[in-house]
Amino acid sequence: MTAPEQAPPRASTAPDGDAAPGAPAPAADADGDHTYEIGSPVPADGVDMWRLAVEARTLDANSRYAYVLWCRDFARTSVIARRDDGRAVGYVTGYLRPENGALLIWQVCVDPVARGAGLAGRMLDAAWDQAVAAAGVERMETTITPDNASSIRLFTKFAERHGTTIEREDLFGPDLLGDSHEPEDLYLIGPIAADKGEA
Ligand SMILES: CC(C)(COP(=O)(O)OP(=O)(O)OC[C@H]1O[C@@H](n2cnc3c(N)ncnc32)[C@H](O)[C@@H]1OP(=O)(O)O)[C@@H](O)C(=O)NCCC(=O)NCCS
Repeated sequence: MTAPEQAPPRASTAPDGDAAPGAPAPAADADGDHTYEIGSPVPADGVDMWRLAVEARTLDANSRYAYVLWCRDFARTSVIARRDDGRAVGYVTGYLRPENGALLIWQVCVDPVARGAGLAGRMLDAAWDQAVAAAGVERMETTITPDNASSIRLFTKFAERHGTTIEREDLFGPDLLGDSHEPEDLYLIGPIAADKGEA
């Protein structure tokens, strides 16, 4: 095990026209072996997101183009995590729901080499902080398949950290997703007061 070193700040900023006004600077995080820099993605990061999604195997991997476009248009509500050696090891994609302004977290992915060290939780917090800074969001939503225990745990812990509740509702079933896809349950988290979440 090597001593963690502080990674240099990564020049990752939202692209022109989506400059994430007020968004916090990318944060460096450590897990004992590596430091991780978590920040708002640029379009080139979409290529790494796509690779991570395909390699995860359990995610619905979208097209490479979809991730690149996502990183251009939803940079303020998404994050990418890079290890101190530059390797992309995780991402969160999210967007603000037009109907109610909630931060909808679509995908959370951590490379198997970086799992179990709390990186997903730290990325979730970073995406939340960006969305609060950019749009003052108060609620988070996500969809999870019933068999995904780690994801349910991840979002339950997020709600606990932020001193709020998490509730489950049915959302999409096989009638829409097909028989080969598990149902997607909707999880509603919040409201989260602006001064919560520093625990
Ligand atoms: C789900 C995923 C993002 C978690 O990443 P991670 O960085 O390992 O998660 P964390 O270390 O932050 O752990 C979050 C919590 O889940 C728990 N957890 C992790 N794997 C678990 C498992 N297989 N079963 C039950 N709980 C699990 C952790 O113990 C932790 O809870 P704790 O703090 O009480 O110990 C990662 O496993 C992944 O990318 N999976 C494939 C893609 C996926 O399913 N994404 C979610 C749906 S979009």
